[in-house]
Amino acid sequence: MFPQRGEFSLPHRATLAQRWENLQRIGRIPAEASTRSGEAGSATSGFAANLLGGNLGVMTAGSALRQMLPGDHAACRALWERDPAIGLSDADSECAIAAYLERNPGGSFVAVVGDEVVGTILCGHDGRRGYIHHLYVAPGHRMLGLGRQLVEAGLDYFGREGLGKCHLFIFGTNEPGKHFWRRVGFVQRDDLDVFSFSLSDSAPC
Ligand SMILES: CC(C)(COP(=O)(O)OP(=O)(O)OC[C@H]1O[C@@H](n2cnc3c(N)ncnc32)[C@H](O)[C@@H]1OP(=O)(O)O)[C@@H](O)C(=O)NCCC(=O)NCCS
Repeated sequence: MFPQRGEFSLPHRATLAQRWENLQRIGRIPAEASTRSGEAGSATSGFAANLLGGNLGVMTAGSALRQMLPGDHAACRALWERDPAIGLSDADSECAIAAYLERNPGGSFVAVVGDEVVGTILCGHDGRRGYIHHLYVAPGHRMLGLGRQLVEAGLDYFGREGLGKCHLFIFGTNEPGKHFWRRVGFVQRDDLDVFSFSLSDSAPC
């Protein structure tokens, strides 16, 4: 029986205290700020409480996930271009992404704060296995659980599609990225290498 929506959760979900420590470690909350109830509101003047949303289920105050739309391409591409961890190719043109979304309806998501896209994930499958591409969270919104939430949305999609497994590609040098995937329960394969073949030098559309 394949998991259906909401029937699984990724391991190691951080407690409020752990998430607070993460934020202090990356300097988004002053080291001296306290998490003790009653002090949190005043000690942080609502700043960290805002970041945490006052609730582990809310990642960045005001953030939400929604389906990625073809019209999100420019905003997503601008994020992807910021980081060499995201490998871009002719498969990332506006028309290629629109074709991908049409071929894999309901599998790709953006995280938004207001109108601003701050996170992305592309999920698609070939009827046999799922594939995750372009998981990205903007630097100012990291370590708050947004990446995990995007992955959970993708896994929900794969579950609904009746898939039993998914894979992703990651640059061998992306150690922080590998750390993330391990933290959310993905297993690194040491028995596989990737081979590619280019059918065309020109963009698909
Ligand atoms: C990888 C990335 C998506 C993580 O997003 P995020 O929103 O910061 O991740 P989360 O806050 O959901 O973190 C989930 C877990 O991973 C851990 N984690 C996240 N980034 C980490 C890092 N750089 N180093 C160590 N641990 C990390 C968190 O501590 C957390 O663990 P916990 O819940 O047990 O405390 C983000 O750093 C990013 O966009 N990186 C650049 C693009 C990239 O490398 N994408 C992956 C390519 S395959």
